[in-house]
Amino acid sequence: MPGMPGSADHRPGREEILRSPGFGRYFTDHMVTVAWEAGRGWHDARLTRYAPLPIEPANMTLQYAQTVLEGLKAHRRSGGAAAALRPHVHARRFQASARRMAMPELPEELFLRALDAMVRADRDWIPSGPGRSLYLRPFMFAHESGFGVRAADSYLFVVVASPNDSYFGTGARPVSVWLCEDYARAVPGGTGAAKAGANYAASLLGQAQAAEHGCDQVVWLDAVERRWVEEMGAMNLFFVYGDRLVTPALTGSLLPGVTRSTLLALARDLGYRAEEGRISAEQWRRDAESGALTEVFACGTAAGVAPVGSVTSAAGTWAVGDGGAGPVTGRLRAELLALQEGTAPDPHGWMHELGGPGPVALSWPAADLRGLLRTPAR
Ligand SMILES: Cc1ncc(COP(=O)(O)O)c(C=O)c1O
Repeated sequence: MPGMPGSADHRPGREEILRSPGFGRYFTDHMVTVAWEAGRGWHDARLTRYAPLPIEPANMTLQYAQTVLEGLKAHRRSGGAAAALRPHVHARRFQASARRMAMPELPEELFLRALDAMVRADRDWIPSGPGRSLYLRPFMFAHESGFGVRAADSYLFVVVASPNDSYFGTGARPVSVWLCEDYARAVPGGTGAAKAGANYAASLLGQAQAAEHGCDQVVWLDAVERRWVEEMGAMNLFFVYGDRLVTPALTGSLLPGVTRSTLLALARDLGYRAEEGRISAEQWRRDAESGALTEVFACGTAAGVAPVGSVTSAAGTWAVGDGGAGPVTGRLRAELLALQEGTAPDPHGWMHELGGPGPVALSWPAADLRGLLRTPAR
């Protein structure tokens, strides 16, 4: 749309953007779209120029938020291709999110083909340099108009991409967190385990409250007892007790982070004891004050591994460790980056090549799609 910030018509040139891309500010030249309709299933997979989408004012997503998303990164590799960490896991989480929001599931193969097409088309947009990557944002929304509250009969799956530096801008600067006791992000039986757009809207007031208290990020407690630590903003948390790491268990109200699951395995490979458990807000304070809790870090695709330096709640403020970035956090951050950038071995086969050599397909003919589209039409 004319005048949209970041749109292709109103942005600086690619080279200028790539010098300092920020996070999620500028979008590349292309996008992928695939449509779904009841009775017809998935169809019309296309790679086109990045452009506004046709949406009526009465679009159901704009009213009732039936939308899910993913976020993953393509890292530049020598030879022109790129690689992403465990895109199959993102594809499966996208399916799980869709199920929870009564939306059709996109076949895993089609999800991967869409990412591949985007990276192939916009390879020149992948920034080079440590920690930099092309952030891929697949999402799906109800593409039907009407005010009846029900699952829509048509959807659009879209992938757009945005070059990025580092989410927090300052690399491994420790973040300060606010323990939010007034609002809940997710409830038992709710949508917290789905990557649903509505969850992010529900989190904004808690994040604003964190900022009012001078903190960088909000930490969510469980909605029932308001006691058990769940997540930090859009990241999962790890608590470090010497060589033992504990991350809050997936109770159904936490997002099952791909970085979280990767770090559980990576930490074990490095000889740490890494487990899922429960940490209460009181225990966080007590263990930080006694020194038993040596480090806390948050993790997620956008920011990687980020140290948590201090905690503020209605009851006061306390530091974690010496308030700086601890050695376990630093080691895991470096190991994860080395894996993503291809400078460390990949014994689990987690990195998946995207956008290798070959022509850019502008649309996938129906015959080609048929084998991929196993999802029955509803
Ligand atoms: C609420 C929430 N928790 C955790 C994460 C981290 O998940 P991942 O490591 O898959 O990016 C995210 C980001 O996707 C998130 O939005």
